[in-house]
Amino acid sequence: FQPKLLAGRKVVMTAGPTFEAIDPVRGITNTSSGKMGYALAQACRRAGAEVVLVSGPTGLPAPLGVDRVDVRSALQMRDAVAAALPDADVFIGVAAVADYRPLSAAEHKVKKSSTELTLTLTPNPDILAEVAARPDAPFCVGFAAESRELDAYAEGKRRAKRLPMLVGNLVQDGLGSDDNQVILYDDAGRHPQPRAAKTVVAQKIVEHLAGLLAIRATR
Ligand code: C5P
Repeated sequence: FQPKLLAGRKVVMTAGPTFEAIDPVRGITNTSSGKMGYALAQACRRAGAEVVLVSGPTGLPAPLGVDRVDVRSALQMRDAVAAALPDADVFIGVAAVADYRPLSAAEHKVKKSSTELTLTLTPNPDILAEVAARPDAPFCVGFAAESRELDAYAEGKRRAKRLPMLVGNLVQDGLGSDDNQVILYDDAGRHPQPRAAKTVVAQKIVEHLAGLLAIRATR
């Protein structure tokens, strides 16, 4: 028997990479399989939540019962999140959003030449930070994939983006793999989790999230 830890809750999430077009056939992207986000969407759904999964290109099938909205770029992801947010209790940013996009995408395929080509990039909005800064913000959970100094960077991001909860992992521990090892960060400190399948890690994240939501409800 599994208690329905998120029954009656609406969860909006992002997952996967974003793809920022350079021209009709080329673009800039991030390495992200989408596996952790999809596993978490499924765990939230199994815990009884209504789940909207705003997903960049992954090639993964939508988990059963999850409402998936497909997007490509960070700007599309931001719009889809905004559209899904009303009535959301929780927002979870798992997506590896590209930090920059080409200032303008070429309408036609860029022709190759032997000279240097300069691409001008402009910063993308921080979707999670924007959601967390809303006056009516849902409970916001972030992810941080770092290659070193996980504690310092993860806790720094949690504070900078004003998140009650953040999931940190070292990229060498999880990227593309079916396993992951994470540390959960919240106002009470750090909570290291054992290495496990992403489905198991996702369940742990849901349990921790549900605990924090319950504490918040009693305040
Ligand atoms: O700053 P960094 O990209 O490492 O932050 C990671 C967290 O912020 C993740 O939860 C990610 O989904 C979210 N994020 C976002 N929009 C961005 C960059 C990051 O939502 N443009």
